[in-house]
Amino acid sequence: MPHLPDIETEADVAAVVHAFYHDMEADPVLGTYFAGLDWQAHLPKMVSFWSSVVFQTGAYRGRPFDPHARMPGLERRHFAHWVERFHGTVDALFAGPRADLMKGRAEQIAGVFQVKLGLWPTLDAEAA
Ligand code: HEM
Repeated sequence: MPHLPDIETEADVAAVVHAFYHDMEADPVLGTYFAGLDWQAHLPKMVSFWSSVVFQTGAYRGRPFDPHARMPGLERRHFAHWVERFHGTVDALFAGPRADLMKGRAEQIAGVFQVKLGLWPTLDAEAA
């Protein structure tokens, strides 16, 4: 197993983002959600989102959850697959604390999105 570098620059973040969405476009589970997307707009937006997460650049000023609220038929299995593929993309290219941070945040945000979509019970719902 070759020794992989950690994520050091925005270009490294861009490498992850571009590889991930290249796979997503043809993904058997999630490809339909990305069909017809304006990649010229989406890819730089996602690079700025992930740079903000990894390097605290503050470059992304958007509402990450909003478009997902309008996507039909999203279930927990879609998020599990998204996270698995995202982790796989990071692991194929990088290893180290920033790579771990990126994977951890992806999983955490996927959890928040699922709670917002009512796919994952909150503590309140569990108590009810
Ligand atoms: C089942 C899982 C997911 C699917 C199918 C999905 C799909 C998409 C699609 C199609 C868009 C583009 C929407 C548009 O511009 O019309 C988008 C935007 C975005 N997604 Fe996801 N996504 C998923 C999970 C996630 C997760 C877990 C994260 C974060 C870790 C994430 C972060 C974002 C962000 C930041 C945007 C841009 C929001 C903006 O417009 O500012 N997505 N997603």
